[in-house]
Amino acid sequence: MSSVIEILVDKFAVRLRGIMGDWGNMPLFVATKEEKFGDYQCNTALSCAKRLGVKPRELAEKAAELLRSEGREYFSEVAIAGPGFINLRLQDDFLRSSLPVPFDGENTGLAACGQPGTVAVFPPHPGKIVVDYSSPNIAKQMHVGHLRSSIIGDSICRVLDYLGCQTIRQNHVGDWGTQFGLLCAWVMDHTEESLRGDIDLSDLEALYRQAQALAGEDPVFHEQSRQRVVALHRGDAETIATWRWIVNKSLGHIENTYALLGVLLQREDMRGESFYNPMLAALVEELQQKYPAGSRPLEVTVSQGATCIFMYDEAGQPLFKGADDEPQPMIIRKADGAFLYPTTDLAALRFRLNELQAERVIYTTDIRQTLHFKMLFQAAELLGWLNKGQTLEHVTFGTVLGPDNKPLKTRSGENVKLADLLHEAVERAKAILKSEDESGQPRFSQDEIESISRAVGIGSVKYADLSQNRVSDYVFSFDRMLAMEGNTAPYLLYAYARISSILRKAPDENWRQAEIAMSEPAERRLVLHLARLADTVKDAADGWRLNLLCDYAYNLAGLYMKFYENCPVLSAAEESVRDQRLRLCDMTGRVLKTVLSLLGLKVVDRM
Ligand code: ARG
Repeated sequence: MSSVIEILVDKFAVRLRGIMGDWGNMPLFVATKEEKFGDYQCNTALSCAKRLGVKPRELAEKAAELLRSEGREYFSEVAIAGPGFINLRLQDDFLRSSLPVPFDGENTGLAACGQPGTVAVFPPHPGKIVVDYSSPNIAKQMHVGHLRSSIIGDSICRVLDYLGCQTIRQNHVGDWGTQFGLLCAWVMDHTEESLRGDIDLSDLEALYRQAQALAGEDPVFHEQSRQRVVALHRGDAETIATWRWIVNKSLGHIENTYALLGVLLQREDMRGESFYNPMLAALVEELQQKYPAGSRPLEVTVSQGATCIFMYDEAGQPLFKGADDEPQPMIIRKADGAFLYPTTDLAALRFRLNELQAERVIYTTDIRQTLHFKMLFQAAELLGWLNKGQTLEHVTFGTVLGPDNKPLKTRSGENVKLADLLHEAVERAKAILKSEDESGQPRFSQDEIESISRAVGIGSVKYADLSQNRVSDYVFSFDRMLAMEGNTAPYLLYAYARISSILRKAPDENWRQAEIAMSEPAERRLVLHLARLADTVKDAADGWRLNLLCDYAYNLAGLYMKFYENCPVLSAAEESVRDQRLRLCDMTGRVLKTVLSLLGLKVVDRM
């Protein structure tokens, strides 16, 4: 599978530079938005002419000359428009050869998403890429903030896998801290052993609240829990065993949610905060020794008992300042000796760079953690942890809002539990599924109803999220995300199911050997869009604009519907035309399925 733009750039960039000089970061070729401007455009003549001090149209004419004479295999039309744009129409054969499916009719050529290193669309990123996502705190309920991190992070991994990269998923779960001491005390000292099986660990948050309340009332329990915290930190075997039991149980509940949501995260991807805990004391010590007070560009000082990292620019000015204009530290140890979120993240980052050998680390969290990651990345830089080429990225996202435009809450004002939200989506999808045909006969078995409503319900939640501009807040609305019309999952899943149904009705398999149809304008428009898949995936990965994949899928479905209205498939007058069109249906279906799977959606053959 190849990217049209990359092929053209490979072929023409050097020689065009000979004519036009340097066009900077401007793309040499771009897909046109409107058909009247051709399939692709080259718009660099204008800015190059300015640089060279020549007339844009004359320069464009020279460039066009080259594209015409050297590009016969690629372009059927090269036309100058306006002050110096070059409009390009692709040769049909070139267009066909750029389609994502190899032309021999054999198999797909499309990667199975979620399986690392399948088909490399582009030369993949050479090194390992760590993606830190979802990362819930397990003593709390997973809430809608983790929904976004899970969905977005998972789609990032799927795109990276598809591009042939070596992706390492990391679930940085919050599984350590004082609250676990209290939970251990509750489980060990309060409840009889035999009761253990009855404790509801699906809601550690509620359990924690109960334990806290009890500690408030009962001085004996208060003392027990205090000692448990100490025992946990000391590594007391029995306490650690209880902690591990609590953690494993609750991870099981989180995994149920992952399974429902269809995210790729597995148990082996979980490397929680506790994993780094044994490294923290030595890390802080090391930093204190290497960067004593007064060191530049980074110093470790103790202020009011807390151990702090201060960072400075070349002029010796603090790199971070608080609202009061005072230098702002990254606190790595509290006065009581406890380590903090930044301490763990420093240790985790070092582990990822050195042990996991990451070339690139991507963190997916909401926008409120921006300062934390800025400081973390800056510290890594100043500490000299990053080799040439190693990069760190914070991929942020906005808040999920309720109908009142405030962060989504339940009616009683609590955080919405992720599992409840997902179950509701599935139930609502079930309600809109047309389960009977005209004569009142059931259309689906019970199993089918379950699997279809799950694909539609969960798919709708994911798609509604990913089709937004990632950094914006959005209002969560079941009605909107489950609508059959518009840029929604049900619309796209239905389009896919329609394609499957047509293919099921094909009288034989001969169409698999047919050439892709491209004689009608509606056919050619569809083919052109299909050929843009590779460039779209690449654009979506650039800055993680996953909504571009949604737009692509939506436009694909729209172009397919137009094709279907204008070009009879099964009832085509000639068999050869029918077969060519079936081929086009098939490819559209495969590409749609691929794009949806990059977004983490499962398709259904019937709906
Ligand atoms: N557990 C954190 C939270 O719920 C997110 C962790 C993100 N990853 C990290 N390495 N800090 O906010």
